[in-house]
Amino acid sequence: MPQMFPESFLQEVMDKNDVVDTISRYVQLKRSGTSMKGLCPFHREKTPSFHVSADKQFYHCFGCGKGGNVISFVMQMENLDFIEAVKLLAEQAGLTMPEPSGRTDSGAAERRRLIYKINTGSARFFYDCLLSERGEAARRYITDRRLTQNTVNKFGLGFAPEGSRLLARLRELGFSDDEILLSGMAVKNDSGSIYDRFRNRLMFPIIDVRKNIIGFGGRVMDDSVPKYLNSPETAAFSKSYNLFGLNFAKSAKDSFFVLVEGYMDVISLHQSGITSAVATLGTALTPEQARIIKRMRQEAVIAYDSDEAGQNATKRAIELLADEDVTVKVLTMNDCKDPDEYIKANGAGAFHELINNAKLQIEYKISKLQEKYNISVTDEKVKYVSELAAEFAKIKSPVEREIYVGKTARETGVSADGIFSEIDRLNAASERKNRFDHASRGLRGNPSVGRLSGENPERENALRAEKTLLNLICFDPQVFQMTAASLSSGDFEEGAHRELYERLSAVRNSGAEPDARLIVAQMSGSEAAAGILIQELNIEDNVLAARELIRRLTAYRKKQKLLETVTSGDLSQSQKLDEMREYLRKEVGTNEQHEQHEQSEQYGE
Ligand code: UTP
Ligand code: MN
Repeated sequence: MPQMFPESFLQEVMDKNDVVDTISRYVQLKRSGTSMKGLCPFHREKTPSFHVSADKQFYHCFGCGKGGNVISFVMQMENLDFIEAVKLLAEQAGLTMPEPSGRTDSGAAERRRLIYKINTGSARFFYDCLLSERGEAARRYITDRRLTQNTVNKFGLGFAPEGSRLLARLRELGFSDDEILLSGMAVKNDSGSIYDRFRNRLMFPIIDVRKNIIGFGGRVMDDSVPKYLNSPETAAFSKSYNLFGLNFAKSAKDSFFVLVEGYMDVISLHQSGITSAVATLGTALTPEQARIIKRMRQEAVIAYDSDEAGQNATKRAIELLADEDVTVKVLTMNDCKDPDEYIKANGAGAFHELINNAKLQIEYKISKLQEKYNISVTDEKVKYVSELAAEFAKIKSPVEREIYVGKTARETGVSADGIFSEIDRLNAASERKNRFDHASRGLRGNPSVGRLSGENPERENALRAEKTLLNLICFDPQVFQMTAASLSSGDFEEGAHRELYERLSAVRNSGAEPDARLIVAQMSGSEAAAGILIQELNIEDNVLAARELIRRLTAYRKKQKLLETVTSGDLSQSQKLDEMREYLRKEVGTNEQHEQHEQSEQYGE
């Protein structure tokens, strides 16, 4: 698929989009030696193992193994296919796209783009309707809710009229019924007739960070139900991967996001200048959304509704965000139902005040438990302390833990030692559980994990040697000459290694210097390739190292061949014995060789 674009164009796209600059928009990177380091955006971690090389223009995570160049990074981060990612990067760099060579665009991406078009047409239609005669009641509703014309324009609000007028408009625009159904803007009933999904509703376009309209929420203007109707999941819209308002909030200056429940809360907050507000899309916060928040901000302030449902949702959101190591604060609105109502009653300044006074999640939990239990009753005090201990057990910082244990000890009269031993007991139990989970995962047997964890150390060594050698081949023509003289691609143990070797050979045989970025872009196993080529090997003498690596790989290969021979059913016993004798005579050597073998370990990772 990557061959779709001419090499020179791919090269230009990569030249104009520096991998460090691009990644820095998503991940905080710190210099570490010759490369940059940060927390991996693709898996959860506490210590940075995500490396970006400015020289080589790659990234690689030593924790989860994800890696690649600027294109694959954008693909993974923005959930795009190769072509879309190249387009985005080309656009950002002001490059014009070359004429496509054959339409091999992936079906999903094409459907997504089609839906964006239908949605854009729909949003325009809704907006026009809002301004038209038909939109009078909707305009009144908007005024009643104190939304300004500016806000209406900023959020692209609109009105979906009665009947199936949108359907008619979309057909006029040239979309087929099948296409319109795909977008979810119309539905088909049992008798096969098609009609508008949204009728007589105030419409809220849902816009992603790339400014695509991915779906809609529609609110009734009276008390009928459902109050809100949302677009269904489509090729362009996934509720669990998007947040309402994120397209604006991502550029807010605040170091946090304010997480609210509803469309109206987001809009109200933004109108009041609190532009870091985002909301989930009619569902509880998902782990994916928590991860999106983590990628963009260190901190989240939860401002869910003050009713019971809102408070329960708060608890779940705290856990999900804390799991991602987001600092979580919780804001309470006393006698108001939600942020929208609070701002109407008390003004934007007061809401700012609430944000400033938001409680750290642990304090919030303590106050909730204080409400729940009456600690002058022994029974309840026991429950109070043990539930708190469970919360304290999750605190990572020993200092912080100490502080809260101390507070609780003073409050309840239970000794700090007692609370600590409860925490230890809980931690020991969860560790046992973890170990058990680990063990049972091992038994179920993920083959690649099993291999890496030392089941076959010889193979592991060979794989390491292959990696080192491939890295050297990429950057040193002499090493390639040496390798080509003794090994062929079939001698490499792993598929990705074979492919990388073939690509490197092809470039080197043509007399050119390999461009590591381009090779990674073209590899089907590009992650493995990036992981290999990103390494900065501090090898003093490439030739000496290569000689040793080649020797080891040749020996490994021969031994493998012997094993195959001996276990093969095609040979007689005596033939097998001959093969073994020959192997032993040639290969198994003296102590000298053993020492050499030890020494060569340094060329592993
Ligand atoms: P709320 O009922 O709190 O809505 O639901 P709201 O945003 O405060 O709306 P107003 O102020 O009454 O106009 C919170 C969110 O839950 C989803 C919507 O995303 C809504 O914004 N929801 C609610 C639905 O998807 N469907 C519903 O029927 C109700
Ligand atoms: Mn509300």
